[in-house]
Amino acid sequence: MILTVTLNPAVDKTYRTGELFPGRVNRMRSVDNIPGGKGINVSKILRQYDYEVTATGFLGGYQGKWMEAQLDRLKIRSAFVHVEEETRSSMNIVADNGYVTEILEPGPHISEAHLKEFGASFIRLAEESSLIILSGSAAPGISADIYARLIRSAAAMGKKVILDTSGELLKEGIQAAPAVVKPNRKELEYIIGRRLQDREDVKDAANVLLASGIRMVMISLGDKGLILAREGRCLYARVPRVMAMNTVGCGDSVVASLAMSMTAGIGEEELLQRAAAVSAANATTLESGNVPLKLAEEMMKDIEIMEI
Ligand SMILES: Nc1ncnc2c1ncn2[C@@H]1O[C@H](COP(=O)(O)OP(=O)(O)OP(=O)(O)O)[C@@H](O)[C@H]1O
Ligand SMILES: [Mg+2]
Repeated sequence: MILTVTLNPAVDKTYRTGELFPGRVNRMRSVDNIPGGKGINVSKILRQYDYEVTATGFLGGYQGKWMEAQLDRLKIRSAFVHVEEETRSSMNIVADNGYVTEILEPGPHISEAHLKEFGASFIRLAEESSLIILSGSAAPGISADIYARLIRSAAAMGKKVILDTSGELLKEGIQAAPAVVKPNRKELEYIIGRRLQDREDVKDAANVLLASGIRMVMISLGDKGLILAREGRCLYARVPRVMAMNTVGCGDSVVASLAMSMTAGIGEEELLQRAAAVSAANATTLESGNVPLKLAEEMMKDIEIMEI
């Protein structure tokens, strides 16, 4: 079983309208609701490939109940800590004139008692998991060292962790040396504290992380490709040109693919090739966390891998 952690899940609401006017009444033509949050997206992709997944984190209120029902329908086991405040919504307003407006709520406040409950539950869940994925941002009230603490308690049980987050959560998390990190270029620049111009720069930055005890660094560069760095080796995957519909969640598909390859014991080249194919295929669909499986398989042969 693979365990995913989503500390601040969201009901992702996509609205469609002609044009959005600030300060006026805006009637939407339609709305779609899907369970969201990075760890949940990763879980959805793993389920598409028939992997057994448990999702944990915090859920609250009616939206939390709705999320659990949706996860149940997707056959994702949910093991969330329940909080009093409502789980957040993330609104994506897509207008016919091409503007996309996002409205992101902060999420429920997490108390010390809830954090304690979560810590204990995490240890039980980690025990029965083969791999742990920590993804996304944290809700208010959670300190920046949360991932570092989870990584350390997983390591004490001999469990591997993949970390995919940003800012201080990532900076602190790295201190605990997770098995794998998956920053995008901006996230890596934040950790290193300087701009990264080319692939050589990215490789040097990856080596800094490897020197701190991380076993594998996967850096995603959007449509510019994907880099895998391990001790003494750095590989680059060029991604094929696709009709990109929605690239939000492409990073989540890289993480899901990585987790599957690690579970199956797949070697570096193929692992990178698969991650590039799955994420490029994900870019072609509107819904994030939905990979067209056949297309991903077909794309495998179009991914060029080179040593850098
Ligand atoms: N336009 C695109 N065409 C082909 N592949 C893409 C495109 N955008 C992203 N990808 C693939 O998805 C991977 C991850 O994308 P990206 O670097 O944007 O992740 P991210 O910034 O972490 O995204 P998110 O956090 O929203 O999931 C890329 O390395 C690439 O393999
Ligand atoms: Mg990302």
